[in-house]
Amino acid sequence: MQPALRLVRTGRDGNRPLLPGPAPRPAAVPAPGGSPHRDRAGRVLSVEGLSLAFGGTVAFAEIDLAVGAGEIHAVIGPNGAGKSSLINAITGLYAPQAGRVRIGAESFARVPAGRLAALGVARTFQNLALFTGLSVRDNVLAGLAAARRAGLGAQILGLPSARREARAHRDAAEAVIGRLGLGAVADRPAGSLPYGLQKRVELGRALVARPRLLLLDEPMAGMTATEKAEMTGFIRAARETSGAAIVLIEHDIGVVMRLSDRVTVLDHGRRIATGTPAEVQADPAVIAAYLGLADGDADGDAAADADTGAAAA
Ligand SMILES: Nc1ncnc2c1ncn2[C@@H]1O[C@H](COP(=O)(O)OP(=O)(O)OP(=O)(O)O)[C@@H](O)[C@H]1O
Ligand SMILES: [Mg+2]
Repeated sequence: MQPALRLVRTGRDGNRPLLPGPAPRPAAVPAPGGSPHRDRAGRVLSVEGLSLAFGGTVAFAEIDLAVGAGEIHAVIGPNGAGKSSLINAITGLYAPQAGRVRIGAESFARVPAGRLAALGVARTFQNLALFTGLSVRDNVLAGLAAARRAGLGAQILGLPSARREARAHRDAAEAVIGRLGLGAVADRPAGSLPYGLQKRVELGRALVARPRLLLLDEPMAGMTATEKAEMTGFIRAARETSGAAIVLIEHDIGVVMRLSDRVTVLDHGRRIATGTPAEVQADPAVIAAYLGLADGDADGDAAADADTGAAAA
């Protein structure tokens, strides 16, 4: 019989449940091979043998990852496992020493960060990266800055093409603001909002350009259970409406179980498992990785964490 896995990991947003019992899966989970989400031709992101080290510190090594259109692929692992670095490499912020990143039909040794929007890639950051003094609306609009075609001259002169484009962008931003329930705060400075809403604004900025690849680095960190449930709904809706491939870094395993189609687990920069949430949950290497974390828990109180995890799960 499988032991009652009630451990939690401890991170910057406090205790979070690890490996809870099976959670209900959404009905829309695509069947392997039988859905356009998993169609090989529909693969949006392929990472092959990607490795990155900072001096003697290995951020990650020999990582393989494939994400299809419409798939929510979670990347999980203990603190320092290399999750954010992987996203930073996929988005060209970091230059990997080996391997390739394929986005759509194009393959790169280093993804050109300046072409992300053209490649249909958008992301959010683990630590909020909003223009705090700008309104929510302007922050969302900023997600379309790279999509602007009209030159500065056309904008200043108010040429019809520039006006049309500006109107289209405003409409797109309003639509996203509406979908994310941000209408009431659209004119407020983003920095004045509670943290959970700021995370939502950042999602809006990523969604407004209609990315085909969306990378979310801990979009629910520090959120209340209610905020997490709302954010889960927004991410699921984004997948349904856009068919984007979504890479989701998330520490709350309950959320991962409910939201993701597949999960890749990193530990000390290595990929130790990829599979469905149920598969990785039962994988001995994954359990060992987290048990190891619990043994060395910074709080030194794994038992108390386990109780919290049981309650939270
Ligand atoms: N810019 C950097 N310079 C030097 N080392 C870095 C840099 N970015 C990441 N690292 C190192 O790479 C390793 C992986 O870090 P990373 O931030 O990717 O982990 P993570 O899985 O996102 O962790 P967390 O769950 O805490 O966010 C760590 O050892 C980290 O210190
Ligand atoms: Mg991180």
